[in-house]
Amino acid sequence: MCGIVGYTGGKSAISLVVAGLRRLEYRGYDSAGVALTDGQGAPLLVEKRAGKLANLEAALTSTFSQSTSGIGHTRWATHGGPTDSNAHPHLSGDGKLAVIHNGIIENYIELKEELLKKGHKFYSETDTESVAHLLSDAVADSGGDLATAMRNVCKKLKGSFTLLAVHSDNPEIIVGARRNSPLVVGVGDGENFLASDVSAFISSTKRALELGQDEVVVVTPNSILVVDLEGNVLTPKEYEITWDAAAAERGGFAHFMLKEIFEQPKAISDTLLGRIDETGVVRLPELDLLNLDVERILILACGTAYHAGLIGKYAIETWSQIACDVELASEFRYRRPVLSPKTLVITISQSGETMDTLMALRYAKSLGAKALSICNTHGSTIPRESDAVIYTHGGPEIAVASTKALLTQIIALHLFALHLSVKKLSPSDLEKIGNELLALPSKVEQVLETIEALREMTRGFKDATSVLFLGRHVGFPSALEGALKLKELAYMHAEGFAGGELKHGPIALIEEGTPVIAIMPPVGSEIREKMASNIQEVKARGARIILVADTSIDIASADHVIRVPETHELLQPIISIVPLQVFAYEMALLRGNDVDQPRNLAKSVTVE
Ligand code: G6P
Repeated sequence: MCGIVGYTGGKSAISLVVAGLRRLEYRGYDSAGVALTDGQGAPLLVEKRAGKLANLEAALTSTFSQSTSGIGHTRWATHGGPTDSNAHPHLSGDGKLAVIHNGIIENYIELKEELLKKGHKFYSETDTESVAHLLSDAVADSGGDLATAMRNVCKKLKGSFTLLAVHSDNPEIIVGARRNSPLVVGVGDGENFLASDVSAFISSTKRALELGQDEVVVVTPNSILVVDLEGNVLTPKEYEITWDAAAAERGGFAHFMLKEIFEQPKAISDTLLGRIDETGVVRLPELDLLNLDVERILILACGTAYHAGLIGKYAIETWSQIACDVELASEFRYRRPVLSPKTLVITISQSGETMDTLMALRYAKSLGAKALSICNTHGSTIPRESDAVIYTHGGPEIAVASTKALLTQIIALHLFALHLSVKKLSPSDLEKIGNELLALPSKVEQVLETIEALREMTRGFKDATSVLFLGRHVGFPSALEGALKLKELAYMHAEGFAGGELKHGPIALIEEGTPVIAIMPPVGSEIREKMASNIQEVKARGARIILVADTSIDIASADHVIRVPETHELLQPIISIVPLQVFAYEMALLRGNDVDQPRNLAKSVTVE
């Protein structure tokens, strides 16, 4: 939800800023812009363009390559459509100050009214432009000090923001600030970076600083100063980025999504590594920080992470016998929920920055709940504000549609469920589950070996107008995820249903030729026969059936069978979701869609 980069150092800023923006394009890609400083007092060099980053790059002239300091932005529009004039940066009236913003300034209308009265002119429909004018007035009031001006302006703003500002009078300085939106500092040698996430500067440095709420940072090539809004100097926590630049590149794959689908076996092993052995004994020292005297678990998340929660619930309740509910984070705090002191809230978030999830976490904590987060992004806001965190080790996920993050989130939930259940499960059950978990990477690899067959099968459904996904038990949230992937990527009508619910309405959607992708429970599952009946019900009404089934099942009624390896019933989504991801990916390609940057979406949604 908008990507932000700042660079100050001895190199050409434009190439580093644009390279950073390319890595952050997953956050929004409807317009992009840069502002570079060009020496003491010289006017700022500004360019901005609607459309993807390539449009901006085409507009940049050679004069931009001289500057060694500047900021850049890639936008996901909230206030004002994706036009050149609404693209960031936004400038002060005298053109000396430029600002970029991620988030929403909720009180921008009243701020704008005051600024108009003072004689400021507005050239965009954005909430951000008010900040540019406020900052320029505050710079004048503070004798030219951009950092003091930023502190004073932040106090007037309501909402969420990461802001970066440059001023032509102080060309080496970039000032940043954050509230509820992400900002990290990349610590270089004779150069420093500011960005929405570390992928923007990973090619230059692996040293990063975390910034907290309502903190202002001032960077020059050789200094980094972090202060709170009162100007008190703070000592930010430094950490080392553990993955390398290659992890954020496509590495020979046509799309990031395909690369990330193929990285799933490794992402699962990395998330399991050192946390479980063949006896099923789990080691999660991160949970020592929590008092796990829980009577109820409440999982809060959005999008695909919500589906991870729905899947994890089955293992948590089955193994630990502790009640577990799963709720959309965006709905949670507005229904005045009741939480007992023995409720453990688990938030799940790949980015650790999703605003709906963050706000739900804060609300749960304000009600006295203990909070555990499952997160893929080190040092991001949600784990920072939780009592404990289980990091998934999926590596950077760049494609907007989440794949490997989901599977590792489910794995983390399985580990957590086993940790809770160690005294409730027999040693032989623990061993069986432990071994099955450890076997998952190679089983996912087996599914990926069938990609050509999946590709071929998908072609047969290219002209479908609607696809239905059917599942029961853990197959139901898997069906929801299959439908979400298809909507996100192929822009097709797709819905996931619980097999038992069909007869209560959705079966009316079935007509001759409607594709139905059904996830078959394994042999021994108490709902296997019922699912088989549901498949017959839709088949009898003309549906074309694609069955995701393990090798133990012999099914004659399906038009296509996607064979997947056998596993423990509660772990099955890890395997059965993979072909659904491939189906959505291939369908998007067949329809000529942009797989990594689907229309209207952004990966990290930092607005409510
Ligand atoms: C957006 C993305 C989804 C993602 C969801 C939650 O909607 O497009 O792919 O599942 O946010 O993101 P999070 O970072 O919190 O897991």
